[in-house]
Amino acid sequence: MNYKKSIEKIEPYKPGLSEKDIKIKYNLEKVVKLASNENPYGPSNRIKDIRLDSIERYPDNYCRELRSKLSKKYDVEEDNLIFGNGSVEIIQMLARAFVEPNDEVLTCTPTFQSYYLETIIEQGKMIDIPVTESFKFDLDGLANIITPRTKLIYIANPNNPTGTIVTENELREFLKSISKDIVVVLDEAYSEFVNDKEYPDSVKLLHEYPNICILRTFSKAYGLASYRVGYGISSVEIIKELEKVRLPFNVSSIAQKVACIAIDDEAHLNECVKNNRKVIELVYEKLDENNIEYIKTETNFIMIDTKKDGKLVHEKLLQNGYIVRPGFPGMDSYLRVTIGTEAEMLDFIDCLKNILKEI
Ligand SMILES: Cc1ncc(COP(=O)(O)O)c(C=O)c1O
Repeated sequence: MNYKKSIEKIEPYKPGLSEKDIKIKYNLEKVVKLASNENPYGPSNRIKDIRLDSIERYPDNYCRELRSKLSKKYDVEEDNLIFGNGSVEIIQMLARAFVEPNDEVLTCTPTFQSYYLETIIEQGKMIDIPVTESFKFDLDGLANIITPRTKLIYIANPNNPTGTIVTENELREFLKSISKDIVVVLDEAYSEFVNDKEYPDSVKLLHEYPNICILRTFSKAYGLASYRVGYGISSVEIIKELEKVRLPFNVSSIAQKVACIAIDDEAHLNECVKNNRKVIELVYEKLDENNIEYIKTETNFIMIDTKKDGKLVHEKLLQNGYIVRPGFPGMDSYLRVTIGTEAEMLDFIDCLKNILKEI
C-alpha cells in the first residue's frame, strides 16, 4: 500500500499505562497516576446538573454559547476565537493551514510532542534548539535560526515538561525582533497555574502582534480532560485560515456545555489553583529536606532530578503504584511528576526517597 512517506517513522501515540493496567501488572490495590498533568480535584460540581438533550442532533458548529462567554472573558471579538477537540486539534489545524513540504517549524527541546508530530505529517521540518541552562525557552536562540522558510514558532508558556515561563518583557523583545509573517504559537495550556507576576498577558499583545496564536485548554486547571475542549485566540486573519481546515462539528454538545459551566464556576478554578500552589510549596519543602533536586515550576507538574537513570526509577515507582513520566530528551535523570493531592504527594516523596536510597 502507498501510504504517505512522511508518516513512515511515526509511531502511533502511546498514552502512558493506565491505573488499571498497573494494578493488574503488579498486583496492586492502589495506584496513583501522576503522569498526565490532570487535575486531582476534578471539575466543578455543577456539571452534575447537566441535562442531555437533542443528542440526535449534531453539535453547534459555531460553539455559540462558549464563544460568547470566552469573548466576554477576554474582551475579544467572537471571530478571534476557534475551538478544538482539545488544544491538540488546533495544533493540527495550524500545521494543516501553514506548513507546506520543507517549511520550517521552530521550537525548543524538550517540549510538547504534538508540535513535532503535526509538522512531520505535513512534511515540514521541525527544528529545535535546547532550552537554556535554566530550562527556559531560548528566545534569542530561536530568533537566530529563523530563515525565509520558517512558518511557525512554538513557545510553550509555561513549558511542558520543564515548568518554566518566558516573561512579558522577553516575549515582547522577541516579537519585536521577528517578521510578522511568522505565526508565533503561544501554547498556554497551564497558564491558569502560573504564579509569576512577569507572566505575559498575551491577549493584550494581540493588537500589536496579529501574528500570535494563543492556545488554551479545559483539560488542565478546569479538570475536564475527558471532554476534549481547547481553544485558540488569534487575529481574524489567522482564525479565518484555521477555520478552513477545521473538521465540522469537532466539539461535542456535551463538551461545549461542561466548558460553559466550568467558566462560570470561577470559585472552583481558584480553589484548584490555590491547592496546587499550596501542595507545590510542600513538595519543595519535602524535596529540599531529602536533598532531592528539582526545577521550580509554574504549572501543575514538577521535574525532579533523580540523579540516576530516570527510566529505572520510573520502573521502581510503578512497582510501588506510582505512574510518572521519564524519558524527556536530554533529561535522562529527570521524572515529570504531576502535582497530586497533599496526601498523594507526601506518600509519593516518601516512596521516591526510599527508592533513591536503594539504587
Ligand atoms: C503544553 C501542552 N499543550 C497542549 C496540550 C494538549 O491539551 P489538550 O489537547 O487536552 O487541550 C498539553 C497536554 O498535555 C500540553 O501539555
